[in-house]
Amino acid sequence: MYRSHKNGELRIENVNEEVTLCGWVQKSRDLGGLTFVDIRDRYGITQLVFNMETNAELCKKARTLGREYVIQATGKVIERESKNKNNPTGEIEITITDLTVLKEAKLPPFTIEDDTDGGDELRMKYRFLDLRRNPLKNNLILRNKIGLETRKYLDSLEFIEIETPYLIKSTPEGARDFVVPSRMNEGEFYALPQSPQTFKQLLMVSGYDRYYQIVKCFRDEDLRADRQPEFTQIDCEMAFVEQEDIIQTFEGLIKHLFSHVKGLEFPEAFPRMTYDKCMEIYGSDKPDIRFDMKFNELNDIVKDKGFAIFDDAELILGITAEGCAGYSRKQLDKLTKWVQRPQVGAKGMIYVKCNEDGSYKSSVDKFYNQEELAKWATKCNAKAGDLILVLSGATDKVRSQMNDLRLHMGTELGLRDPQVFKPLWVLDFPLLEWDEETERFHAMHHPFTAPKPEDMEMIDSDPGKVRANAYDLAINGVEVGGGSIRIHDRAVQARMFDLLGFTKEEAEAQFGFLMNAFEYGAPPHGGLAFGFDRICSIFGGTDSIRDFIAFPKNNSGRDVMIDAPSPVDETQLKELSLKVTV
Ligand code: AMO
Repeated sequence: MYRSHKNGELRIENVNEEVTLCGWVQKSRDLGGLTFVDIRDRYGITQLVFNMETNAELCKKARTLGREYVIQATGKVIERESKNKNNPTGEIEITITDLTVLKEAKLPPFTIEDDTDGGDELRMKYRFLDLRRNPLKNNLILRNKIGLETRKYLDSLEFIEIETPYLIKSTPEGARDFVVPSRMNEGEFYALPQSPQTFKQLLMVSGYDRYYQIVKCFRDEDLRADRQPEFTQIDCEMAFVEQEDIIQTFEGLIKHLFSHVKGLEFPEAFPRMTYDKCMEIYGSDKPDIRFDMKFNELNDIVKDKGFAIFDDAELILGITAEGCAGYSRKQLDKLTKWVQRPQVGAKGMIYVKCNEDGSYKSSVDKFYNQEELAKWATKCNAKAGDLILVLSGATDKVRSQMNDLRLHMGTELGLRDPQVFKPLWVLDFPLLEWDEETERFHAMHHPFTAPKPEDMEMIDSDPGKVRANAYDLAINGVEVGGGSIRIHDRAVQARMFDLLGFTKEEAEAQFGFLMNAFEYGAPPHGGLAFGFDRICSIFGGTDSIRDFIAFPKNNSGRDVMIDAPSPVDETQLKELSLKVTV
C-alpha cells in the first residue's frame, strides 16, 4: 500500500497512529533543529516534521526536497504546538521516521498556490500543473457534482442516457461545422455535431420518450469567455409533451442543482418573460435581472423640441442609475467614451442629473427646460440623487447599445453579485430572423422548431411575425439553455426548409432522413439543452467557462499545451486525398 491516509484526512483523534502519506511537496521550512515539509494531494495538506536531533540522516534528506517532488513519508501523528486553524489538518503534524522520494520534479514555471504568479498563457501551456491549484481543482469537483446531480435528477424521472455519434452529417445550428475527412470514402467528410439535435428527435420516433445525454458539441465560431469550440451540453428530449411540461421538468432540474450543489432553495416558480418584452425593457434576450435599471422609451416627450439627434432617431431610451447624480464631468466623459467604443458603437450619450435640490442638470439644457426634464425623470422613475442616461438611434442598435451600457453600469455599481442567482425563462422567440447580408430568413433557434399553432396562418403572409414554441433559460444575464417544441410532420418541416431558402432537393439531401422518419409514426416532442460549462461557471461565480474545463482552448481555438491544431504529415494527407494549399 502506498498510503494509509490522504492528506486532508488526519485530525486530533488520530494522534499516536502510525501513518504513511503520499503527495507533492508544497513547501518546506528549515528551523534549525526541525524541518517542516507540507505534503499536498487533492484532498488537502498535512505538515510533516523531521527532527535533526532524533534522526539527522532523514532530516538532511528532507532538506533536499524541492517543490513538487513526489514523496512517500511514514511516521506518527502528534499534536501540534502551534495550531493552524485555517487548515483542517492544522491541529496535528507527523514526525517522520521514513521518507522515500518517488519522483523528483523540475521547478514549476509558476507557483502552485491559490494566488499564483503565473500568467494566463504560461498556465495554459502547463495546464497539468495549473490543475494542481485549489481554484481549478474546486471547479472540477463542482463540475463533477453538477454532472452527478443532473444524472440523479433525470434518472429519478426515468430519463435514460443514450449516446449519439460524433461523426455525422452537418446539423445546422447557426455556427460553422468542424469537418473530418473520411479515408474510406474519398473526398467525403463527416461533420462533428453542433448538437445531437436530429438524433434526439429520431430517438423520439424510436419511442425513447425521455432521453438525455451529457455530451460534447462542436462549433466553429468566434470565441468569447462563455464560448468554447468544443463544449458540453446537458441535452434532453421528451415525447408527448407541451412547452409547459418541458419548462416544469427542467426548471425542476435547475432547482435540484441549486438545492443539492449550492444549498439554495427557490420556492417560487422562475419568472417568465416574452422575447418581445425582454427586448423592449432590457434590449437583450438574456437579461440580467439581478438589478432593475429597465429601459424607458422617451420618444413622446423628447421629440419636436429642436434637438435634431432625437428628432431623427427611431428610438430614444433612458435608464436610471440610482444615486449617481454626483458623477463628475470626468466620470461622465469616461462613460461617453465607453459607449462610443466600436464594441458598443453609440454616437454619443445624453445625461440628466436629478440634483438633490430638485433641479435638473443635463447635457441638453439648451433644448430642454426644467419642466421638460422633470418629465424625463418621471418617465424614468428617477428621484433626486439619480442620474438618467439616454441613448438614441435605430431601434435594434440603440437597444443593443443600451443593453451594453446597462450591464456596464450594473457592474460599476456592484449590482451584479455573483452569489445572487436570478433565473428567467424567455418565451415566444420569433421563429425566423431576417438576415440583411444574405437577404433571407434564418431559423432563430434551429430549423426543427415548431411555429406557434396560433401564428401558423401568418406563415405565408408574414413569416417574420410568426412566433416559435421556443424558450431559453437565462441566469444572471447568461443564456444557460434553450429548446423548443419540434416540428413532427413532414409537410410542415418541408415548408420550413422552403422558408429558409432550401430547394426541395437540398432539403431532401440534407434532411431526408429526418423527414422520412416523420412518416413512420413521429410523436409530438420537444426538448432543450443546457450549456453544462455555463451552468458550472455560474454556480462557481465566474464569467469564464474555461476555468471549469480541464483542458480548454484559448481564444484562437488553440490548445497551447498539446499545440493543436497542427499540420499533419504528407502520408496522412495522401491517404485522405487532401491537398493543403496554404
Ligand atoms: P443551443 O444552440 O441554444 O441549442 O445550445 C444550448 C446551450 O448550449 C450552450 N452553448 C455553448 N456553451 C459553450 N460554448 C459554446 N460555443 C456554446 N454554444 C451553445 C448555451 C446554450 O443555451 N439543439 C439545441 C437545443 C434544443 O433545441 O434542444 C441547441 O443546441 O448555454
